[in-house]
Amino acid sequence: MEKAVITWAEAIKAGKLVAFPTETVYGLGANALNPTAVAKIFEVKRRPLNDPLIVHLCSLDRIEGLVEDLPEAAEKLLDAFSPGPLTVVLRKSGIVPDIVTANNPTVAIRIPSNRIARNLIRASGLPIAAPSANLFGRSSPTSAEHVKAQLSGKYALLINGGACRVGVESTVVSFVSGAPVLLRQGGIEKERIEAVIGSVSDWKAGGTQALESPGLTAKHYAPETPLIITENIQEFKDREDVGKLFFQRPAEDYSGPVLVLSEDGDLSEAAFNLYHFIRKIDELNLKFIVVEPAPDYGLGRAINDRLKKAAMT
Ligand code: TXA
Ligand code: MG
Repeated sequence: MEKAVITWAEAIKAGKLVAFPTETVYGLGANALNPTAVAKIFEVKRRPLNDPLIVHLCSLDRIEGLVEDLPEAAEKLLDAFSPGPLTVVLRKSGIVPDIVTANNPTVAIRIPSNRIARNLIRASGLPIAAPSANLFGRSSPTSAEHVKAQLSGKYALLINGGACRVGVESTVVSFVSGAPVLLRQGGIEKERIEAVIGSVSDWKAGGTQALESPGLTAKHYAPETPLIITENIQEFKDREDVGKLFFQRPAEDYSGPVLVLSEDGDLSEAAFNLYHFIRKIDELNLKFIVVEPAPDYGLGRAINDRLKKAAMT
């Protein structure tokens, strides 16, 4: 075990790419302080250079030197939810290469709780820049098989840590423009964040908040099959050529391909299954997929956000 950890870490130190599990989704990591290594991430994912990456640390004390300052509210939030599916955006120091932050004066920081991720980061002794390990615009991978299907041969190592516990990406909160702003719904529910630091505003595309985060506006998480969000899946009841993705088990029987995110409507279970089930139904090459939204609270917000982006054409 010890030996394997050193091998992963050696790869990072040598400027190679390592795909690794986190509790949210799989990441494609490189030494965050090595611009050449980071450039490979953008190339392999075909990600535009104006979409910044998250820097992953093994513990909060490693933030020292990477950021200008740590506002009290950000520290409170990190204390409450790190390690875990939380990312905070802060003013960056000169050490963080511009390619990591897409020339923004800010850097996104996250401390994952997944044991393999933390071992990798700790053993490398470096901050690791990592986006989700998928092609740009597609669904995030929640298993090593998903990573392989899109990026096989494009990384030095893929660490198989099984299925990701949470299944949707981290919640991203920015502390760079005074009051905290929720940039992305994710694994830590907005309600839990507000219980710790008070009210946070939602980021809006084209709004007054002068925040650049291209990953938030772009079409994202998209399957190949067109996906339509509807409250009336019944209309497609007898269509064999339409995939049906339910949040919870419907009362009546449906013909054609049906997948249920959670039999009893459990939000954590639905988030866990979300990307996996979208992939499964996508593989059936149907005419289109209709999907029922989750209730709009807690993890349901993150699920609905991903569905909306997957539905954009
Ligand atoms: O759960 C996660 O966050 C996963 C795992 C691997 O940690 N990572 C992930 O990374 O989802 P990615 O690159 O797929 O999404 C990161 C999001 C993007 O929407 C990006 O635009 C935003 O975070 N972001 C990164 N740095 C930022 C910054 N400095 N300012 C604003 N937004 C930033
Ligand atoms: Mg991503």
